[in-house]
Amino acid sequence: ETTVTIGGASLGFTAVPKSLADVVAVPAGYNVTVLYRLGDPIASGVSAYANNGTDTNFARRAGDHHDGMSYFGLSAAGAPDANGNTRGLLVLNHENITQAYLHPNGPTTVAGVRPEAEALKEMECHGVSVVEVNRATDWSYAPTSSFNRRITPLTPMSFSGPVRGADTLKTRYSTDGTAGRGTINNCANGTMPWNTYLTNEENWVGYFRREVGDAARRAATGAVGVKANTSLTRYGKPESNTGGNYGWATVTPADTTSTLYARWNITAQAGAPADGTGDFRNEIFQYGWVVEIDPFDPASTPRKRTALGRMNHEGCQIGRTIAGVKPAFYMGDDAQNEYIYKFVSNAAWSAADATNANRLAMGDKYLDAGTLYVAKFNADGSGQWLPLVYNTGVLTSANATYAFSSQADVLTNVRLAADVLGATKMDRPEWTAVNPATGEMYCTLTNNASRTAAGVDASNPRAYTDPKTDGRAAGTGNVNGHVIRLRESGDSSEATTFAWDIYAFGAGSDLDAANINLSGLDATNDFSSPDGMWFGLPSNASGLITPVLWLQTDDGAYTDVTNCMMLAAIPGTVNDGATRSVTNTLGGATSTVTTRIGKAPGASLRRFLVGPKECEITGIHSTPDGRSLFLNIQHPGENATNPNAPTSNWPANQSVAAAGQRPRSATVVITKADGGVVGL
Ligand code: FEO
Ligand code: CA
Ligand code: CA
Ligand code: CA
Repeated sequence: ETTVTIGGASLGFTAVPKSLADVVAVPAGYNVTVLYRLGDPIASGVSAYANNGTDTNFARRAGDHHDGMSYFGLSAAGAPDANGNTRGLLVLNHENITQAYLHPNGPTTVAGVRPEAEALKEMECHGVSVVEVNRATDWSYAPTSSFNRRITPLTPMSFSGPVRGADTLKTRYSTDGTAGRGTINNCANGTMPWNTYLTNEENWVGYFRREVGDAARRAATGAVGVKANTSLTRYGKPESNTGGNYGWATVTPADTTSTLYARWNITAQAGAPADGTGDFRNEIFQYGWVVEIDPFDPASTPRKRTALGRMNHEGCQIGRTIAGVKPAFYMGDDAQNEYIYKFVSNAAWSAADATNANRLAMGDKYLDAGTLYVAKFNADGSGQWLPLVYNTGVLTSANATYAFSSQADVLTNVRLAADVLGATKMDRPEWTAVNPATGEMYCTLTNNASRTAAGVDASNPRAYTDPKTDGRAAGTGNVNGHVIRLRESGDSSEATTFAWDIYAFGAGSDLDAANINLSGLDATNDFSSPDGMWFGLPSNASGLITPVLWLQTDDGAYTDVTNCMMLAAIPGTVNDGATRSVTNTLGGATSTVTTRIGKAPGASLRRFLVGPKECEITGIHSTPDGRSLFLNIQHPGENATNPNAPTSNWPANQSVAAAGQRPRSATVVITKADGGVVGL
């Protein structure tokens, strides 16, 4: 139960200027500590990271591309500690890899085949880390803690919820469709009040290879195969004799019985059983889920929570928990013109569950049964949550566009179900965050290159041209993104209607104030492509509480001017602004649309941090007291083609010159020199 009094504090730092420097820059009075870097050992006997491409054993080292992250306080007895400000478990995603830096001279391929050792290393650099961190004078991680764990694309997983055991989950590895191996492209996170971590499978489609001939073989198996073909097309996996990220499917393993690599090729094999139990045609349906991890039990098996649907899951944040009310979980499907979702549990919240030691059983209670909804945003500022329930409304076997056969079918192919319900196609939904003071839900819509002047709507109202100063072609569409927010009717997580407006539109401060820079951003707070986002709950000096919105960017559009950044905000509420007419001119077409915009943020939105070269800023959480803020620097120097000529030397250069050093994704912790709450 969260009862919060807004403290009325204001941001207490001077904005950091935009920058192209190869360093993490923070306001005066703040310290940056590099805490946990790509390759750092997390078990005894693992060598220090050489960082020259020769390192191995990434199942016992930090992975690459640090992303979503949660901090859980840890007591002396090794249990969750809601007041644990100096000892905790940091749990973070390793979304992807910068492949070149993982090998001495970049990746190799011999006669079309990837070497097994290289592919294994690349796989193990994906997944999740659980790592113990401690604060003495400063923060450090504990390299040999018994809590340390790597979860990788090889880690056994179990399926739970309505899709467990469905035909579409049956593979040669799991002939009953209840188990799988690993998780991949884990983007944002969710922090559950019962002390578990949600990791979300985002761009999994690209890792799979689907060869020409697959569609015909599936179609020949009947209705299930035909539906699979429809789904593969809708989720972006056409037939091709190329593809499959990093060529993992090409590996010929030394252990000829191993299917660790073959499973990345989903082509239906000639003569294999139609039910998929003899090959890996269904492996792709084992991905695209929200996965729950108990960080306090290193032996536990993560559970894929199928009730939350299958999509390019960005993140999954729980709304306010109120005793006796069913909690809501907010999610974005990050691809152009996809949707925002909400899952409402069947179980009403019980505060005692927050300290239940059987944490994954709490996940079973709240995440396996409930109603999944998709959002429809109306032009008048209202909206509906449309239920994705089999045999409700048009989601039946008789549907003329897509016939549905079961709730498992609806959840596995939730994009198809959302299409036929007429949900609103958004400008790439990334992170969700909930204001603990108001319960309002925010979602970053990072950008959308395919938004056209004719295709705008009230909730995705911009399509324009944004010129570049570095020789690149101008960006087009919704180049800079926006942050939408909604207030549930009756402020209830169970509501099926809501009111919405747009908190802030991303834009360079030099862009047209009438139609593009609609939020009036200036040099202290202009940004592009909002992505990571989280509400912290720090107390101010008088003990009152002021929720601070942390907003992070992942931007290709503004990197001619500045590296990616993090801003802090003390936002208002839905409908504190007005309607606004926007005229769009793009590609010879012009349109005018009326949107709903929050109050201009002004000094309540301020740039707090700028990262090093070619990075994304992502992952954000703090200690309960708000005095240590953890965030991730993802893929610094990612554009290098020659790993021995790196385009960033961060983090080795954060405090001393380090020319030539390969860059490493890393977690940093920000503290205030005077020991105060970060941001206020
Ligand atoms: Fe992994 Fe949509 O960011
Ligand atoms: Ca993201
Ligand atoms: Ca992004
Ligand atoms: Ca990235």
